[in-house]
Amino acid sequence: MDNQDHFKSNKTLWEARTLAHVKSDFYDNESFLEGRNTLNAAELKTLGDISGKSVIHLQCHFGQDTLSMARMGATTVGVDISEEAIRVARDMNSQLGLNSTFVCCNVLDTLEHVKDTFDIVYVTFGATCWLPDLVKWADVVSTLLKPGGQLYYHEFHPTFYIIDDKLKKIGYPYFNTGAIVETHRGTYTDTSEDIELKEVFWSHSMSDLIMACIQSHLQIDVLNEYDFSPYNCFENMTEVETGKFVLDVNGIRLPHTLELVATKI
Ligand SMILES: C[S@@+](CC[C@H](N)C(=O)[O-])C[C@H]1O[C@@H](n2cnc3c(N)ncnc32)[C@H](O)[C@@H]1O
Repeated sequence: MDNQDHFKSNKTLWEARTLAHVKSDFYDNESFLEGRNTLNAAELKTLGDISGKSVIHLQCHFGQDTLSMARMGATTVGVDISEEAIRVARDMNSQLGLNSTFVCCNVLDTLEHVKDTFDIVYVTFGATCWLPDLVKWADVVSTLLKPGGQLYYHEFHPTFYIIDDKLKKIGYPYFNTGAIVETHRGTYTDTSEDIELKEVFWSHSMSDLIMACIQSHLQIDVLNEYDFSPYNCFENMTEVETGKFVLDVNGIRLPHTLELVATKI
């Protein structure tokens, strides 16, 4: 199968997942609609005041973060492959009286649909694992940025992605060895959801990420590694503080997330 087939499978997966996610406790859309900002503490701290800035949110899912940033005063655009996610995001934008725009496409094709450049490209959790390589992605990010504009990237750490869901073993390759194809029941917001679809994802090492940025003229300004996750989305996590979830593997704490800021030079 080629990558276009893989993207097609993943689109089908995300159409189904979105329906489940919108009504999930995990995404708690009710409190979001009432005003909750869905950016986590690190994101708010590192981004700082984004009022008046233009932001494009790649792989925006159904738009909670995109619309949260609009509420913070930014002009925002969200991009996602799922038609259902974009439909929900647009509905919420109207409902909340915001002026975000949403584009439905493969993130790697964004430049065919979006001609503007931005102060910030925002990419967070569970995004780049759905892409076969980061070189094309970093090129898209760089082209979307104004000179001096910044990529804000906050993801699960490449080391964290190698653990299998049940914490029994190292389950996934650290380096990108090609497409990983699996079928799981449910979704990360609810394992009992009636979804049983193929998912195709890829591993990306730290050097893949950093080299892709370097090759696309993205100069790294910030690189933070955190020993907790802001999301309780893997089995067996313990909440050590409000909003801080950890997995100790044999008593050892791995890096959980990675935050990177890079400036287009
Ligand atoms: C885990 S969600 C991202 C959640 C995100 N952190 C947020 O702000 O809500 C992953 C998203 O990536 C999208 N996606 C997966 N593959 C994609 C692709 N090739 N192009 C664009 N979007 C993609 C899915 O539709 C889904 O909405």
